[in-house]
Amino acid sequence: MKGIILAGGSGTRLRPLTGTLSKQLLPVYDKPMIYYPLSVLMLAGIREIQIISSKDHLDLFRSLLGEGDRLGLSISYAEQREPRGIAEAFLIGARHIGGDDAALILGDNVFHGPGFSSVLTGTVARLDGCELFGYPVKDAHRYGVGEIDSGGRLLSLEEKPRRPRSNLAVTGLYLYTNDVVEIARTISPSARGELEITDVNKVYLEQGRARLTELGRGFAWLDMGTHDSLLQAGQYVQLLEQRQGERIACIEEIAMRMGFISAEQCYRLGQELRSSSYGSYIIDVAMRGAAADSRAQ
Ligand code: DAU
Repeated sequence: MKGIILAGGSGTRLRPLTGTLSKQLLPVYDKPMIYYPLSVLMLAGIREIQIISSKDHLDLFRSLLGEGDRLGLSISYAEQREPRGIAEAFLIGARHIGGDDAALILGDNVFHGPGFSSVLTGTVARLDGCELFGYPVKDAHRYGVGEIDSGGRLLSLEEKPRRPRSNLAVTGLYLYTNDVVEIARTISPSARGELEITDVNKVYLEQGRARLTELGRGFAWLDMGTHDSLLQAGQYVQLLEQRQGERIACIEEIAMRMGFISAEQCYRLGQELRSSSYGSYIIDVAMRGAAADSRAQ
């Protein structure tokens, strides 16, 4: 499966923070925002990832993450000229996807909760069409909204409905079989001139091939569209990290735990950042990883 992180858009609601910087590079407590969606793809076992952003910002992402090889990944970059809709990612990313299935994640979404990596790998394993993740919110009219019956079957999908049929927001993580590229080519721009991801999902729904997994209580899904939600996400990460002593979305740690890099490689990445507490954390987890490896031998 190939991954795409959509990290474009104009970030107007976060001005002046986004005056010169991409929204998806803004700090969320101790790391740039894009680390969070990147870590989700990595936890799903995805190693070939394309980052799509505007021309002005692509070089910033490139200097942050390079080709991805240091994390055992292969990262490529592609330009979205104008924010013409989330589903345009499949037209831009068609060559990257090739003949594989695809996972798309929005660059401003944070997912965190118990057992999330097994939810992800389980969903990837049963993929047959489109897999969505729903999250209960009190302001569903701001999102794509999914309606499910008592057996969890997906009944309807609507984009920012005035009167939502449920409180389940469709989150910014989407998994598809390879036909998503063809389907994205068939949809027309909405009234606001965008290729809506909800229109792609509705095609799968009509074919009876769309499912929605509800991320329930105890799970955190945060999108960072406003100054308040950006600060709240940072505070959430700070609170959990300080309380538990474990970092959320530490991509070096995840790369090691997923077996993409060795404990030794992880240690070296930590050394490069050792003057920060983030770097010391990586050194610590790498040393514990190396000790566990030698016990296993
Ligand atoms: O966050 C989940 C929601 O994301 C879903 O519930 C909605 O169904 C989906 O349409 C989307 O709604 P938003 O109102 O959040 O979409 P927005 O236009 O703000 O775009 C989300 C992110 O994607 C944002 O960080 C910018 C980026 N983006 C967006 C568009 C339209 C791009 O990079 N390129 C684009 O063309």
